[in-house]
Amino acid sequence: MGLVYLNGAFVDESRARISPNDRGFLFGDGVYEVTRAVNGKLFEWPRHARRLQNSLSGLRLSFGPGMAEMEQVSGELLARNNLLGGEAYVYLQITRGAAARAHAFPPPGTPGTVFACARALASMVEERGKGVAVITAPDIRWGRCDIKSVNLLPNVLASQQAREAGAQEAVLVRAGVVTEASHSNVFAVIDDVLRTHPLTPAILPGITRAVALELAAGLGLSISEKAFSADEMAQASELFITGTNSDILPVTRVDGKAVGNGRPGPVTRRLCAAFAERLYGKSRE
Ligand code: PDD
Repeated sequence: MGLVYLNGAFVDESRARISPNDRGFLFGDGVYEVTRAVNGKLFEWPRHARRLQNSLSGLRLSFGPGMAEMEQVSGELLARNNLLGGEAYVYLQITRGAAARAHAFPPPGTPGTVFACARALASMVEERGKGVAVITAPDIRWGRCDIKSVNLLPNVLASQQAREAGAQEAVLVRAGVVTEASHSNVFAVIDDVLRTHPLTPAILPGITRAVALELAAGLGLSISEKAFSADEMAQASELFITGTNSDILPVTRVDGKAVGNGRPGPVTRRLCAAFAERLYGKSRE
C-alpha cells in the first residue's frame, strides 16, 4: 500500500477516506491530471498545470492549494513511494467537495477534495515495437471534451469495448470524423502528411500530442492539424496514438484490418525515437 495525499496530509492509502457525499462520487463533479515522471522528474509539468487550471476554470471550481504546491506534493509522493528511479506517473484529482446532494453548487466555502497518488508506469516497450490494435466506436461524449473531467463514462464504456475486442484503444468517431481515443489522441499519416484533430472542445488538448507535434516539426515533417474521417483513416499509411501512459504508440490494426503494411511505419518510428530522446536524453529501444 502506498502513501497518498488527501486534503493537505500524506496518509497511507488504506487510511485515506472521502465522504460518500463527495460530489466527485455523486456527480463526477471534478477534474484530474495525469503527469508522467522520469527518474523523479515531472515531464512537462507547466503544461499539465496550465491544463489543470483550464479544467478548473471550465467547471468554475475554486482550488486552494495552487499549482506550485501541487508540484511539490507530486515530487514528495514520488520520493516517499520510492519512485525516483525509472518511470512513474502522478495522478491528481480535485472535486467540488462534500455536501448534501443537490445538483447546483454547494454553499460557498465548501472545501474541495484534493487527492493525489504516485504509481509506477507499466512499460509499453513491447507494444511500441509491434504496434497495437484499435477499434472504432461512436463518440457519444459531451461538448466540452477539452476539460479533463473525472466524468468519464463514455470513455470507460469505449475502453471496455476495446478490451473485449482484444484491442488497446477505442478510436472515437463523431459524425464520421475521428476526434481522439478513449484515453489518448490520434494521429494519421495520410498522403505523406501527419494529420491530427485540431484543438477544439471536441478533444482533450493532450500534452503528449503537443510534444509529438513539436518533435514532428523538428524532424521537418509535413503537419496538418486538420481532422480526418474514419474513411480516410482506413486509407492511412500510418496511425499512432499519444498519451501520458503510452507516449507514442504505433497502431497497426483498425477494426481487424491492417494499417499500411501492418507494421509500425517510418514516420511513427522516427517520432518514437525522438520522444524517447526527449524523455531520457537517449534512445530507449
Ligand atoms: N488520459 N484524450 C483523452 C480523452 C485522454 O483521457 C488523454 C489522457 C489524452 C492524452 O493526453 P496526455 O497526452 O496529456 O496524457 C487524450 C489520461 C492519461 C488518463 O485518463 O489516464
